[in-house]
Amino acid sequence: MKTLLIKNIKSLLQVRDANINKVAGKEMSVLPKIDNAYLLIENGLIKDYGTMDNCPETADEIIDATGKFVFPAFVDSHTHIVYAGSREIEYILKVKGLSYEEIAKRGGGILNSAKLLHETSEESLYEQSLPRVYEIIKQGTGAVEIKSGYGLNTQDELKMLRVIKRIKETVPIDIKATFLGAHAFPAEYKQNPDKYVDIIINEMIPQVAEEKLAEFIDVFCDRGFFTIEQTERILEAGTRYGLIPKIHANELDYSGGIQAGVKYNALSVDHLEYTGETEMEALKNSRTMPTVLPGASFFLNLVYAPARKMIDYGLPVAIASDYNPGSSPSGNMKFMMSLALINMKLLPEEIFNAVTINTAYALNSSDKYGSITKGKYGNVVITKEIPTYEFFLYAYGSDLIDTVIIKGEKLVNS
Ligand code: NIG
Ligand code: FE
Repeated sequence: MKTLLIKNIKSLLQVRDANINKVAGKEMSVLPKIDNAYLLIENGLIKDYGTMDNCPETADEIIDATGKFVFPAFVDSHTHIVYAGSREIEYILKVKGLSYEEIAKRGGGILNSAKLLHETSEESLYEQSLPRVYEIIKQGTGAVEIKSGYGLNTQDELKMLRVIKRIKETVPIDIKATFLGAHAFPAEYKQNPDKYVDIIINEMIPQVAEEKLAEFIDVFCDRGFFTIEQTERILEAGTRYGLIPKIHANELDYSGGIQAGVKYNALSVDHLEYTGETEMEALKNSRTMPTVLPGASFFLNLVYAPARKMIDYGLPVAIASDYNPGSSPSGNMKFMMSLALINMKLLPEEIFNAVTINTAYALNSSDKYGSITKGKYGNVVITKEIPTYEFFLYAYGSDLIDTVIIKGEKLVNS
């Protein structure tokens, strides 16, 4: 038995009963907290917490958090951090005036990453990707989803998923894998896209399921990418093999992707820059978590998803990083929080909920992460000394993370 005690916490944030697995609408503006608190972690799990009056006297390790806030480590429910090379030169083309879609049409974008990945060995892909996971842990992420989708043929998609599996076996945080063979059409199928959909359905999905390489299935359902019909065929096949849908929708247009996701009981629909009343109505009373990715809007100068409207409509909202080489080359969740504050007009309490409990739901793991709850993993962030928790979002460029604890182990202490 190993115990870690954090004491004199200025405020312990996001303290919840076990029966809450997500928060929606007005509830999102509530961030339950205990001031002047302690937190006890035993064998990697949260054992107890309360005010300092009841603080235990001994533990194997004690951290004094005077003047500091403690909250659950971020859960990043949408990333593409296994990739080869980088795409900064393409971004410069964008700065010079080309749009994301124009760059994609010229064989850039996702297809460029697919080409690089094809030329990269499994070993090198692993070595290039691993530091990105350590980078996000330092930035406070305690569980992450990683997608395939830069392979775009059976062999390379499996290569990506095997790399994700290997990373999962190496790093201290939990990783969930998503199969995203339907990320883009390879150039050779441009004239016959349904042929590629057939390959996804008949070759890729069965092999991914056979090797148990993914828990989720994703499709980039949007204008110029996969149509509603193609998306539905893929989700239908994925579901038959036990993969849970989590789809990219409405990034470029009111494409119907949100409705398709809800129809197939997707765990989440992500991006959502183009979301109106019809889409919000479809999401209402569904089990699907609307997930917004402010990093992509920031980096690509797109409109931001109307997260404020969604919450006012009574919906839950999750915020993830979308860390990828093309549209969001950062997995810094603290920065995503600031973007949501500044550009989406969400309140700090709503944002803390959106990056912890709601993303944990979008990872199908609300029982393990996302709140300070007895029995959940002892994954927490200890801030530096700051005046208020609002300051954490407001000081958008400052490194305010002092320590990251994953399953009761201290990983970063700057
Ligand atoms: O989530 N929108 C689709 N896919 C990624 C971008 C991938 C890329 O450009 O490499 C996204 O933004
Ligand atoms: Fe994405």
